[in-house]
Amino acid sequence: MKVIIVFHSVCGNTYLMAKFFEAVFIKAGHQVTLRRVADVDWVAKPDLSLEAVRILAEMRELPEAVPAELLGADVILMGSPVYFGNVSAELKAFMDSTGGLWFQGKLIGKKFGAFVSAGHAEGGADLTLQALHTYAQYMGMLSVPVPVTLLPGENINSLGIIQYSRGKHAERLDERTGRLIEHWSRIF
Ligand SMILES: Cc1cc2nc3c(=O)[nH]c(=O)nc-3n(C[C@H](O)[C@H](O)[C@H](O)COP(=O)(O)O)c2cc1C
Repeated sequence: MKVIIVFHSVCGNTYLMAKFFEAVFIKAGHQVTLRRVADVDWVAKPDLSLEAVRILAEMRELPEAVPAELLGADVILMGSPVYFGNVSAELKAFMDSTGGLWFQGKLIGKKFGAFVSAGHAEGGADLTLQALHTYAQYMGMLSVPVPVTLLPGENINSLGIIQYSRGKHAERLDERTGRLIEHWSRIF
């Protein structure tokens, strides 16, 4: 299976999710392309830990996504930070740049999965996942749900994977998010 992961991230949390998806799909024998979207005014904040700086530098080295790369994929995963209950402007700009593919029906039938990093559980993550699925619906893609039973003893959001950063810069992916990604990736 060919998988493309397109994400936006400023503080690295969504990036660590995307990177873990990449590792899990590669381990399962799939061909994976990992791309960040363009972010022209991104700047590294001062006073970060060495690990946060390393992660952000690694993220910035990734190539930027171009719409044509979506054509060869069987599975498209999109990830965004939660900004006021919506996808970031940078990811939205990429989504909008795929309008030509929409007119031509080029993404119809591809599987689609969504993931987000949010500050807190108070609000916004659900709405952001929903925005991603609205995009997928317009494109004619097949949204892959997250089974509520994905992790034993927990109720899991059906719309995608949510990671809570508490507004901190990324230093490592939390263990629960990793388990969610591992389990969910087997369903595609
Ligand atoms: C402009 C802006 C708006 C935000 N809006 C929300 C929000 O509505 N809900 C929320 O939980 N977190 C919100 N956050 C926090 C981010 O979603 C959170 O820090 C996230 O982990 C950032 O992802 P990143 O590390 O990949 O950049 C907002 C942050 C910014 C900068």
